[in-house]
Amino acid sequence: MGTCLFRQAYYFIKQTFAFSGDVLEDTEFMKDEVLNRFTEVFGEKPGARVFFAPGRVNLIGEHTDYNGGHVFPCALTIGTYAVGRKRKDRKLRFFSANIERLGIIETSLDDLTPRREAGWTNYPKGVIWAFEKRGMKFPCGLDILIKGNIPSGSGLSSSASVEVVTGFLLKSLFDFEVSNQDLALIGQYSENNFNGVNCGIMDQFAIAMGKREHAIFLDTADLSFEYAPIKLDGAKIVISSSNKKRGLGGSKYNERRKECEAALKELQRTLSIRTLGDLTIDQFEKAKGEIRDDVRRKRAKHAVYENQRTIQAVAALKAGNIGRFGELMDESHISLRDDYEVTGKELDTLVEEAWKIEGVIGSRMTGAGFGGCTVSIVKNKAVKPFIEQVGKHYREKTGYHADFYVVEIGSGPCEL
Ligand code: GLA
Repeated sequence: MGTCLFRQAYYFIKQTFAFSGDVLEDTEFMKDEVLNRFTEVFGEKPGARVFFAPGRVNLIGEHTDYNGGHVFPCALTIGTYAVGRKRKDRKLRFFSANIERLGIIETSLDDLTPRREAGWTNYPKGVIWAFEKRGMKFPCGLDILIKGNIPSGSGLSSSASVEVVTGFLLKSLFDFEVSNQDLALIGQYSENNFNGVNCGIMDQFAIAMGKREHAIFLDTADLSFEYAPIKLDGAKIVISSSNKKRGLGGSKYNERRKECEAALKELQRTLSIRTLGDLTIDQFEKAKGEIRDDVRRKRAKHAVYENQRTIQAVAALKAGNIGRFGELMDESHISLRDDYEVTGKELDTLVEEAWKIEGVIGSRMTGAGFGGCTVSIVKNKAVKPFIEQVGKHYREKTGYHADFYVVEIGSGPCEL
């Protein structure tokens, strides 16, 4: 637990574009705050325990995880705090300190079905359901309070963070033997099958397996992975939030998956491959004529090239060539813009403005796209001009205000 406190004492800094509104989020402070709020909401009884799971940012390898390719995400020091306590009956009561007006949302272990009116609680409920599906039955209900400091809808995986913190809380309170990797799989299973979002494994894996100051080079074909130290001497990871909300749900995300699946089927007529991630660029270029439709060909091209870019980017990083890593990030954005078509005006503007700043090593959209955030690697001395200039031009061109986060790479879930 001591290590956990040490880890979580790392902070994130939120900066407005004028660089004026620094906010330090302190874990001890958050722990007291959520415990106090829990007592106010659910009453003072012993047994409440506090847990944390991070959010994540993906450095490169976008829309490759459901195509059997590689990804390179890392956990953040911002995330979701959860307080939980067992009950004597079978009730499940949830409260979000981020959306106070919703009050307590109540259900029971005997009604584990997704419901529209249950709103955000469908995420923790889905995880409880997924535990039971794996044979881990709950003898009693729970009171759970959640508070997150990941900007919602920003593409930094607030929902996967809720899933993983819920899983960690359940395994801890009920003494289930579940590895962190299994928590990732349970989270993804619940999101796919309870909440109807057909996401890949990247987000839950990055969150459940996060390691301070390391990114995770994950092969989604077989979940083999390695940790790569991120030592950005003289540079920072800056996340720029477009403040254009992003919804994964019914939207284009599932459409892109279907396009890739259809392209794969066409390629499988002549190639014996299991996923698009099995292909080298040469193999793809030779076989791409099998894909009958231009749009599907572009989608598959992105999946294949992005996977290879991710492998090259990690090799460049290991060789200490951060400049090459940055170039590959830029190429990733161009491919997501032109071939995968998931960027849009806001993300393109943030990235194009970032590319103009002296001292930007690389910049790209991150996450699912269609709004959300970009990730940039920025030399220390360029961070201030970056925030000022990108923020100013972004507002002029789109009418939206951008938020900037200079982030630290944090660890996976823990008890506080
Ligand atoms: C979302 C999904 C991930 C992944 C990314 C795109 O974050 O949850 O599984 O597909 O989009 O790389």
